[in-house]
Amino acid sequence: MHVAEVIILGKKELWFQMRTTDGMNWMELTFVSLSNGSGQVAKRLEKFKTTIFTQMSSLAIKHGAINLGQGFPNFDGPDFVKEAAIQAIRDGNNQYARGYGIPTFNSAIAERFKKDSGLVVDPETEVTVTSGCTEAIAATILGLINPGDEVILFAPFYDSYEATLSMAGANVKSVTLCPPDFSVPVDELKSVFSKKTRAIMINTPHNPTGKMFTREELELIATLCIENDALAFTDEVYDKLAFEVDHISIASLPGMYDRTVTMNSLGKTFSLTGWKIGWAIAPAHLTWGVRQAHAFLTFATSTPMQWAASVALRAPDTYYEELKKDYLAKKLILVDGLKSVGFFVYPSSGTYFVVVDHTPFGFENDIEFCEYLIQEVGVVAIPTSVFYLNPEEGKNLVRFTFSKDEATLRAAVERMKLKLKRR
Ligand SMILES: Cc1ncc(COP(=O)(O)O)c(C=O)c1O
Repeated sequence: MHVAEVIILGKKELWFQMRTTDGMNWMELTFVSLSNGSGQVAKRLEKFKTTIFTQMSSLAIKHGAINLGQGFPNFDGPDFVKEAAIQAIRDGNNQYARGYGIPTFNSAIAERFKKDSGLVVDPETEVTVTSGCTEAIAATILGLINPGDEVILFAPFYDSYEATLSMAGANVKSVTLCPPDFSVPVDELKSVFSKKTRAIMINTPHNPTGKMFTREELELIATLCIENDALAFTDEVYDKLAFEVDHISIASLPGMYDRTVTMNSLGKTFSLTGWKIGWAIAPAHLTWGVRQAHAFLTFATSTPMQWAASVALRAPDTYYEELKKDYLAKKLILVDGLKSVGFFVYPSSGTYFVVVDHTPFGFENDIEFCEYLIQEVGVVAIPTSVFYLNPEEGKNLVRFTFSKDEATLRAAVERMKLKLKRR
């Protein structure tokens, strides 16, 4: 990989925007903090200085490493969606959208949800369009959680959950999903739930493990939510990347729709992660809270992209079948490759991630292993300890993504086969 372009975008922190010369349409935004962690930040975000991503990204640039770390495709989204965006811009759909979404997109989301989950929702009062699922998460948490409320997370968890809960002043309780199958520890979950629980956050298919919550697990969570009068927030951005079992939305379980916010986005399903188009579906009384926060976070989401997203969500079933087929082929290349390198690869039934045990190679922890992998082998993976309240729990595991073209995946495997040695 060669850096063709470096633009300095900020001063206090040095932001690099870089583009590669290999024509693979591969772009990455990363930054190196000049303040070395001594800058000012509010207490609620103090512990979230993302030193590990900073280290990994700057090391990746320095060593020209193949990036199987960050979860974004290095190939482009479908032409029919891109053309729809261009057309929407040409048609003059360029001013602020209605705050909670343009009507046609709210309807497309409701139609898609009915097809996927069987639930009929009102696009006008139960669907809110947001700037990516990240904003749906923020609007849901900030709109529905009070300071001191207890919220349960399953570790490892997507990093924005904990940071946003901290911004809301929530009291985070974590339940760890352990290898080999990352199943829900029933007794522990029961013991963490109480009348003080305001909400539980679910992510299925699950980043980083690829676990998909089973019907039994979701039924247990539903029972506990109902018994304790708690809400369920469910992040389903990988719902179309379910390879072995069918995806289940907890909102579709008896008694759950009224207490669930279901969040999703366009990025993963349409290989358009840079568009940041997301949504939250919830009954009107919860949607009210989500919209109150959304109104003051971003107010509205990009208008032409919502027009294009409406076309995307109405794609024929064949689009989704092809997507799955392509990703399954990529997954096989990576999983077989990682096994042949000598990793223990945990089964992943959904998402475009796999988690491996790096301990056969003799490193102290995941961060040391990932640093070595970048510096000496030229491949980027993500240390999973950053996804736990207690980093010790993730120290044996690292995450690779297969959201890359097949040549890139094969090249990364070859590098590892050639250069990764047991210590
Ligand atoms: C589990 C999970 N939720 C949410 C997001 C963010 O989605 P978006 O890009 O739509 O904000 C990601 C992105 O990696 C993710 O992995």
